[in-house]
Amino acid sequence: MSNFPDGFMWGGATAANQLEGAWNVDGKGISVADVARFKPDINKKDYVSQWHTSPEDIVAAKNTNDVEFYPKRHGIDFYHHFEEDIRLFSEMNFKCYRLSIAWSRIFPNGDDEEPNELGLNYYDKIFATLKKYNIEPIVTLSHYEMPLNLVEKYGGWGNRKLVEFFVRYSQTCIDRFGKNVKYWLSFNEIDSAFRHAFTTVGIIEEKYVSKLKAEEAIYQSLHHQFLASALITKYLRKRYPASELGCMVTKTMTYPETCRPEDIYLAQKDNRMNFFFTDVQVNGVYPSFILKYWKDSNFNIKMKSDDLKELKENTVDFISFSYYMSIVQSSEADQREKVGGNLTTGVKNPYLPITDWGWQVDPKGLQISLIDLYDRYRKPLWIVENGLGYSDKVELDGSIKDDYRIEYFRDHFRAISDAISDGVDVRGYTSWGCIDVVSASTSQMSKRYGFIYVDLDDFNKGTLNRTKKKSFNWYRDVISSNGTKL
Ligand code: BG6
Repeated sequence: MSNFPDGFMWGGATAANQLEGAWNVDGKGISVADVARFKPDINKKDYVSQWHTSPEDIVAAKNTNDVEFYPKRHGIDFYHHFEEDIRLFSEMNFKCYRLSIAWSRIFPNGDDEEPNELGLNYYDKIFATLKKYNIEPIVTLSHYEMPLNLVEKYGGWGNRKLVEFFVRYSQTCIDRFGKNVKYWLSFNEIDSAFRHAFTTVGIIEEKYVSKLKAEEAIYQSLHHQFLASALITKYLRKRYPASELGCMVTKTMTYPETCRPEDIYLAQKDNRMNFFFTDVQVNGVYPSFILKYWKDSNFNIKMKSDDLKELKENTVDFISFSYYMSIVQSSEADQREKVGGNLTTGVKNPYLPITDWGWQVDPKGLQISLIDLYDRYRKPLWIVENGLGYSDKVELDGSIKDDYRIEYFRDHFRAISDAISDGVDVRGYTSWGCIDVVSASTSQMSKRYGFIYVDLDDFNKGTLNRTKKKSFNWYRDVISSNGTKL
């Protein structure tokens, strides 16, 4: 039995910096992703170190045109393969495809007065191809790929000038692509500013005199991103009233280890922090606990007189989120085994399997998340990222039998169907990395999420040939049966 409504939007998701490649082609500027060095010997489960880019890393990266150790510079060369790849998405019956626009293709330095026509041209071709296959684009305006110049010259999003630059870039995209794009997302996983500040808000933490000062700068950056998002929502509504803009957060799900009230409180604290980002973007106000925290920490978050009004008047149309895992908090955490993944660290949940990268797999947590979000906000929900990072094996006959991935998706689709039966308004689902892409955190190719295998290894060796994994036909049938055939 499937509860997916008619017109449910099935598809896949990617980000420009993880698949396009062509990092210095057709006028593209260097972005924060292009200086992320692949560290082959790093601990697979140490999420924070995998992401970290130091000031020395940036200097070294700028002095080389190497691509082998900077995998986001080559991606899977979607830039030159997009027709083939979109045709494969269409073969899977995709109703929609979530992609991001690389800001530095459009404004190579971020602060340029005029956009780069070649960059705009490239996305014209992408949207025309999607249209040809009747695939609805869902566009993320910022997905960990801001122009590096904005970090070096302005210090990142802590500087209010970034609002102006981002609004200029977004308006350019809306003006140019608005007739072909109905769904827009402003900032990918806006909450990740606290997990990898450099990539998300362009803050280099080492440049601050203390951890607290860096944290203050992150909050300041977030205020600027919230404001920028509100301003482009306002613009979009004026230009294209039928279009919609959503926020995008990492849905973190924290359970208490026991019914000890202290454990419940710790879990609530985590979940409350996760809701901070949606509270601001959906309700248009800062939650009181954040204002109190700023006061207690002596943070001076600068705002102009109209900022709060803009936030209040230009809230999002829908909520989109990524969901990969859940975590546990315990008042006896120091005596417990820890796990990592994209929720950084927590206590290990003995009831859940765990991936090779230390991410706890929890489909039921997705159902609970959907219910929590819907009950709190009553806004349409989109799951725009979810999937299993796995080191797939190619058999001697060239096939890839990824039954583990099918099982992962099947369980998550059942969870979504159950949430819909619980009364939640879920509009769409885009699996993460529907074609293998470079991993955001580890920069590995070997951490694969796709239904389509790309022949490329961690050191940029391979033919770039695309092969359908076993999950390809399975997902195609899921979509054509609207979730009935799992
Ligand atoms: C999300 C990001 O956090 O997780 C994606 O929005 C990312 O960019 C995805 O790729 C999976 O993470 P990773 O590190 O396994 O690529």
